[in-house]
Amino acid sequence: MYNIPVPFVDLDASHAPIIGEIHECIARVVASNNYIKSYEVQRFEENFAGYIGTAHSIGCANGTDALELALEVLELKASDEVIVPVHSWVSTASSVVRTGAKIVFADTLYDEFTIDPKSIEERISPATKAIIVVHLYGNPCRMDEIMALAQKHGIAVIEDCAQAHGAMYKGKKVGSFGLMSCFSFYPTKNLGALGDGGMVLSDNAELIDKIRALAHCGQSSKNVIKYIGRNSRLDALQAAILNVKLPYLDRWNASRRTLADEYRSMLQGSGIELPVEEKDSVHVYHLYVVKAPRREDFIHYLEEQQVGFGIHYPFLLNEVEGMKDGRIYAKANSYKEQIVSMPMYAFMKNNELEGLKKLSSNIINHKYGLV
Ligand SMILES: Cc1ncc(COP(=O)(O)O)c(C=O)c1O
Repeated sequence: MYNIPVPFVDLDASHAPIIGEIHECIARVVASNNYIKSYEVQRFEENFAGYIGTAHSIGCANGTDALELALEVLELKASDEVIVPVHSWVSTASSVVRTGAKIVFADTLYDEFTIDPKSIEERISPATKAIIVVHLYGNPCRMDEIMALAQKHGIAVIEDCAQAHGAMYKGKKVGSFGLMSCFSFYPTKNLGALGDGGMVLSDNAELIDKIRALAHCGQSSKNVIKYIGRNSRLDALQAAILNVKLPYLDRWNASRRTLADEYRSMLQGSGIELPVEEKDSVHVYHLYVVKAPRREDFIHYLEEQQVGFGIHYPFLLNEVEGMKDGRIYAKANSYKEQIVSMPMYAFMKNNELEGLKKLSSNIINHKYGLV
């Protein structure tokens, strides 16, 4: 992934300036003899909740567990329904299937890629108990419309913020709108650990306390087994690394946004459709996803030019075995064969940017006959 002229992701660029701090915190944790449920974890829970703007938080092993734990405390029954966008990473939907409740998909918006509030409204029924919204690629969902619908119908909103650390909607961080929000600290996320990590945040202390126990083998305190729980903890080493990294997150996001501006000026008029930023939103470009007509030709060209890319994702969730519903989601379907994720990370090096500029001018000059 790294050994090509323009890699898809390069973590070295953001790690290099803080490598001393990272080594120092690892040495501190090793010397502490305290690797689980430590001071570092508590400090990161407080720091991250403070950054997002919620009163409470609980670290867990990864973003998938964060979603599963958030759903578990809603105590859903098999007859309950949860609305989920049809276009996201599989964890958003598999977490619902694993509760035993019924998954109901909603379409996504063509320009924004996020869940379409009109489609949510169409899919609400008396059985709807929750909506999971995903700030996909770092782009905030239309939270005003979604929260108004949820309040009108008495439905819980869970925000899947795995791709949107630091994104804002109308001046507030995403992750502070719903009943609960779930984050992943997978290494390539905007705020990533050096391994797996996750977190659930909420203003509701009762829910977070219950998740704290559930994720700690059901213990409300040492050897007091209050629930049938599981082991899903954020470990001290990852929390210490995240404590080092958190103060840099806004700078990294600003650098991603600068690269998005570069793309805008490089690819304008190229025949490739560029991501749209809504006026009330601050997009943090976890992924820079374009729509390319004749995608096969486009990715063949990227391969030829040794420019990294990804497809997030090559399937809609209602095509996954165990979640098939036989419905057509017109908007998500209209772009799913066109999406391509371009290289995106903080502090892209000059020679890499030059590589992208060359690629873009070739695209604009129709060197591979895209348009
Ligand atoms: C939208 C979304 N939800 C959930 C997850 C799950 O996070 P994790 O990989 O930490 O389990 C991811 C991570 O890839 C994601 O992108």
